[in-house]
Amino acid sequence: MRTGTTQIHSSSNSSLYTRVSREALIGSATLGVVFVAGYYIGKRRSTFSMDIFKSHSGAKDNPLMQYVLNHSMREHPALKKLRLRTMDDSWNFIMVAAEQSQLMANLARLIKAKKAIEIGVYTGYNTLSIALVLPDDGKMVACDIKDEYPNIGKPFWKEAGVENKIDLRIQPALETLDDLLANGEAETFDFVFIDADKANYDNYYEKSLQLVRKGGIIAIDNVLWSGKVVNPASDDIDTQAIDKLNKKLYRDVRINISMLTVGDGLTLAFKL
Ligand SMILES: C[S@@+](CC[C@H](N)C(=O)[O-])C[C@H]1O[C@@H](n2cnc3c(N)ncnc32)[C@H](O)[C@@H]1O
Ligand SMILES: *[C@@H]1O[C@H](CO)[C@@H](O)[C@H](O)[C@H]1NC(C)=O
Ligand SMILES: *[C@@H]1O[C@H](CO)[C@@H](O)[C@H](O)[C@H]1NC(C)=O
Repeated sequence: MRTGTTQIHSSSNSSLYTRVSREALIGSATLGVVFVAGYYIGKRRSTFSMDIFKSHSGAKDNPLMQYVLNHSMREHPALKKLRLRTMDDSWNFIMVAAEQSQLMANLARLIKAKKAIEIGVYTGYNTLSIALVLPDDGKMVACDIKDEYPNIGKPFWKEAGVENKIDLRIQPALETLDDLLANGEAETFDFVFIDADKANYDNYYEKSLQLVRKGGIIAIDNVLWSGKVVNPASDDIDTQAIDKLNKKLYRDVRINISMLTVGDGLTLAFKL
């Protein structure tokens, strides 16, 4: 299978193993020395699994994954352009897997979602993917701490004609969630995607549970964290936070649950 033949691949030539190790560090990503030191620690400890990867950083030599993509991906043209633009960025391994984003968009549409929240936007691929299935008077509250990457996505949101639905808020996501609650918007949201700093995952989940209506969906990304959750290292705060939340969700009677091996692991919590 040649790399150039499908449209979904990253142009990145870093190996999946490298990608997996780098991604495991994102939650606590600080560039420079800390990053480099952490990279080698992460590389040593990484639990490699071929079951956990994204189409844009692992499907290159996987004919079955290519088959899946060839027979299912139906990206809006602007969404595809944004994905390809994102592949030019060196942090593209943190982008949501396109096939996972399409699943979430299908779910949002299935439940007739009108109001959604994206916690962690990056270049806004999933923000756009979900905004596209919201009705014209729908709203997507997009949360990030930096506007540098969302600004890459904005022209594509506009091209798709959904920029009016996207309310980008640049401040810590917890503050935005508190603002929504203070604004009386509890139980008015249909869909939330949690995909920002891992240490805050439980806080994001609890606030999301307040903001989502009964029957709404909270989708939580990176729940397998490159496989590290199986055996969290004693000094690995991000893996511990994810594992702790996974254990809590498993027992949580406020939701129904599914944990999927798509991408880096996706938990779907259906609010009861
Ligand atoms: C994994 S990326 C999000 C990927 C995105 N969901 C997509 O569709 O490709 C994580 C993002 O979370 C943002 N982030 C990190 N800490 C945050 C915080 N406290 N509040 C809001 N966003 C944060 C980062 O700036 C980064 O853009
Ligand atoms: C996927 O599609 C590409 C482009 O059309 C093609 O070259 C490749 O053989 C296909 N692979 C599979 C497994 O369907
Ligand atoms: C979802 O939760 C309800 C209420 O606890 C329970 O009756 C039902 O069996 C659950 N569904 C699944 C598929 O677990």
